[in-house]
Amino acid sequence: MSDAVAAVELDGITKRFPGVVANDAVKLRVMPGEVHAVIGENGAGKSTLMKILYGMQRPDEGTIRVGGKEVHFRSPKDAIAAGIGMVHQHFMLADNLTVLENVVLGSEPTKGIVIDVAKAEGRIKELSGTYGLPLDPDRLVEDLAVGERQRVEIIKVLFRGARILILDEPTAVLVPHEVDDLFNHLRALKEEGVTILFISHKLEEVLALADTITVMRGGRTVATVKPEGVTRGQLAELMVGSELPRPETRESTVTKDVILSVEDVTVKSFDGRVLVEGVTFSVHRGEVVGIAGVQGNGQGELIEAIMGLLPLDRGRVRLGEQEISAWGTRERREAGIGYVPEDRTEQGLLLPSPVWENVMLGHQTSRPFSHGPWVDAAGARQRAEEVVKEFGVRTPGVDVAVYALSGGNQQKLIVGREMIAGPKVLIAAQPTRGIDVGAQAAVWDQIRRARIEGLGVVLISADLEELIGLSDSLWVIFRGRLVAKLDPQTVTPEELGVYMTGAKQEAAAG
Ligand SMILES: Nc1ncnc2c1ncn2[C@@H]1O[C@H](COP(=O)(O)OP(=O)(O)OP(=O)(O)O)[C@@H](O)[C@H]1O
Ligand SMILES: [Mg+2]
Repeated sequence: MSDAVAAVELDGITKRFPGVVANDAVKLRVMPGEVHAVIGENGAGKSTLMKILYGMQRPDEGTIRVGGKEVHFRSPKDAIAAGIGMVHQHFMLADNLTVLENVVLGSEPTKGIVIDVAKAEGRIKELSGTYGLPLDPDRLVEDLAVGERQRVEIIKVLFRGARILILDEPTAVLVPHEVDDLFNHLRALKEEGVTILFISHKLEEVLALADTITVMRGGRTVATVKPEGVTRGQLAELMVGSELPRPETRESTVTKDVILSVEDVTVKSFDGRVLVEGVTFSVHRGEVVGIAGVQGNGQGELIEAIMGLLPLDRGRVRLGEQEISAWGTRERREAGIGYVPEDRTEQGLLLPSPVWENVMLGHQTSRPFSHGPWVDAAGARQRAEEVVKEFGVRTPGVDVAVYALSGGNQQKLIVGREMIAGPKVLIAAQPTRGIDVGAQAAVWDQIRRARIEGLGVVLISADLEELIGLSDSLWVIFRGRLVAKLDPQTVTPEELGVYMTGAKQEAAAG
């Protein structure tokens, strides 16, 4: 190790939770001005370590040094004062406020003193300029794309004077061109001397961006390597301790039976804006239908309409022969439509409830969870144990509250719950978001196997490799309309990206 003073030095950090040692005598040394990636399996302890560095959690043991000086953070406030900022995976912006208001929110002088708007605006422009992060201070956050929102979060952190920036899975929600933008911004920040800590499950990204990579496994830091010296496969091996499975070759399992049809579906917002317009497509038994699109082009509303969570302005949805357009969400689920929602913490899970109750969510009224009006807790527990085992959910047990699971393990729980119920149709949004490479391959396998048994799937995903790799049919949605149908056997992620931006369209036939 060099003698230079590290920007951040964590030594012997241990953090215990009931039944788990999340961080076990962790050592991490981050040099000033470097991009330092932290990678590892779901539950390896990455987020916990970052939360400790950001003052959100206190370590049971160990020391933290920032710029060579030992610190004891009691809250993020202390960390911010020490020049550390964190961008969380779930953005914490207020939608109905402007960029400017969001940036100064929380750092403006309190006690009724008026914010110096002109000064704040000047400072934002200066930061945008210095770091090449274009932003219009007057725009409403609700009108921004995901990548732009993230930029606001980063500016907000810089506005508070951060010189050390922590990003926990910043690319999970971004489409490829937004990832490119983000990486350019991060490189510019680095040029200005900002130190960056970066968590990601996407190993190509890590190799492209990081100066140093630290691998965590089971709460420990097991290796620190330079990207030049390793391959993606070697990184995965360091993470999981074994070789990655190869993707299997694909044979079509598509049958002639239509299991889900979406006919001329139009969805409008409360204020009358058209969000989904005249969408028509069908899903056959054994078919995965992928829908590619830049976030915010109506794909989210489309699947919510299929689930009965949003009303149809026009059109029909059929399950097999049966029209279900007027059915409630629960009836649709009971009839065999599984659902992996886009936002796992808001729609998919009850965070304070135990794992076994969460496995029941949305399936309360069917066996093995109920006998007549009674909830069968033993049946639910057993089902939960099965999900945990089959889908590799890392948890000390099924009685643990879901908030105590790592992000990726929460996601595995939702996917497992839906798949194990044996649905006829699965509506899946970002099914592998935040899931590590090994577990991702396992989820793909589960979907492929269920497909062979006749499952029909509607898949939306920001991961274009996943969309192309899993789909039998692939549509592109742009501004609420299906604008192209592409062949997943031949299309490349780059070509798909061009269609997604609306630069290229095809007359779309159902
Ligand atoms: N508040 C908590 N209470 C109890 N256990 C927790 C809590 N937070 C995290 N854990 C446990 O600590 C371990 C590490 O979790 P952490 O969130 O740090 O993992 P991670 O590496 O970020 O995983 P992922 O890639 O899935 O996000 C996990 O076993 C998790 O269940
Ligand atoms: Mg995490």
